[in-house]
Amino acid sequence: MRLGLMVVLAVLTGATGSPSVKIRPEADAVDTTAHPNSVPDTGEEAELDGQQEEPVEEEAEEDVMATGELNPNQYPAQRAAKVVQHFLNARHGSPCRLFGLHSVSSGNAEDVADSGRRYQLEISVQEIISNTTEKCSAEVLFPRGEQRSAAVQASCEEILKVNTTAQEEALFQKYNMNNSLVSAQNLPDSYGHIEPDHKPLWHLGIVASSAVMLKESTENTLYNMAQVANITQLASESQQLKFDCHILLHEMVSQEILHWKLLFTWSPPDGVNVLQMEQLPHCHHDDKPPKAN
Ligand SMILES: *[C@@H]1O[C@H](CO)[C@@H](O)[C@H](O)[C@H]1NC(C)=O
Ligand SMILES: *[C@@H]1O[C@H](CO)[C@@H](O)[C@H](O)[C@H]1NC(C)=O
Ligand SMILES: *[C@@H]1O[C@H](CO)[C@@H](O)[C@H](O)[C@H]1NC(C)=O
Ligand SMILES: *[C@@H]1O[C@H](CO)[C@@H](O)[C@H](O)[C@H]1NC(C)=O
Repeated sequence: MRLGLMVVLAVLTGATGSPSVKIRPEADAVDTTAHPNSVPDTGEEAELDGQQEEPVEEEAEEDVMATGELNPNQYPAQRAAKVVQHFLNARHGSPCRLFGLHSVSSGNAEDVADSGRRYQLEISVQEIISNTTEKCSAEVLFPRGEQRSAAVQASCEEILKVNTTAQEEALFQKYNMNNSLVSAQNLPDSYGHIEPDHKPLWHLGIVASSAVMLKESTENTLYNMAQVANITQLASESQQLKFDCHILLHEMVSQEILHWKLLFTWSPPDGVNVLQMEQLPHCHHDDKPPKAN
């Protein structure tokens, strides 16, 4: 499993990394040459993950949090900006609308007496499916202590106007009308591939995962969606489609792969709502290379 994932991550990073971006050692170590054809057709998967702007500078972990003007390419600004991506997806994402962090142009961090640390950012956010990009101002407040999630504000109005109503209705009807319930595994697979039919499920998995990543993020984390291990549509009586899914998140700072199980609903008017989220214990056997590839 782990090798498979690492290959995917390497492909994602390699597919869109800009020349100025240093690829992390983990990605370097992966034998991508074994799968020269594994770059996704469109590169869409890569962008969906927001991997195109990997934080780049491998600074030693700061003992004291950076304050004042931040280098936009370094971890502190990148980590805070990533939280804005998770926020936008958790609030406004859908199987037809997905946000990625495109770039960070400036950042500033300050201590806020007794309440936490505030980051003010100028970032560029991309709506990946329509390929529209917008510059946004955003603010992320990490509360002191780790009980509460970061509070985020972002002024991205144009990309929220991308009208996906028609596509969402069509997809909803497809999943709702059919007498069979959909399911899929390994999105993407270890070659970075996702069947076109399964892309909406991958997108749904990312949006649902963003709620977890938003909740779990601190100043010291950097979460990326790694894989939807499996996703299953459940029978639902209401006007909401219901899904159960098992996701793998990659926390870039600790280099951990975290497993979460989510139950969520989706409908075009109400969006994606996570009903239950549960972190699963680390599966050690997942760290072994797969038997066959
Ligand atoms: C997205 O748009 C940019 C600029 O408008 C363009 O350069 C790029 O090729 C587009 N990407 C895709 C995947 O269509
Ligand atoms: C979005 O498009 C649908 C038709 O596809 C239309 O009925 C609706 O009014 C549009 N919404 C907005 C906010 O423009
Ligand atoms: C219903 O599901 C079957 C099997 O997955 C598929 O072949 C068919 O196209 C679906 N029908 C609709 C209306 O989506
Ligand atoms: C989903 O994937 C996880 C992790 O690979 C696995 O433990 C679990 O059994 C799978 N569940 C189903 C229903 O396939």
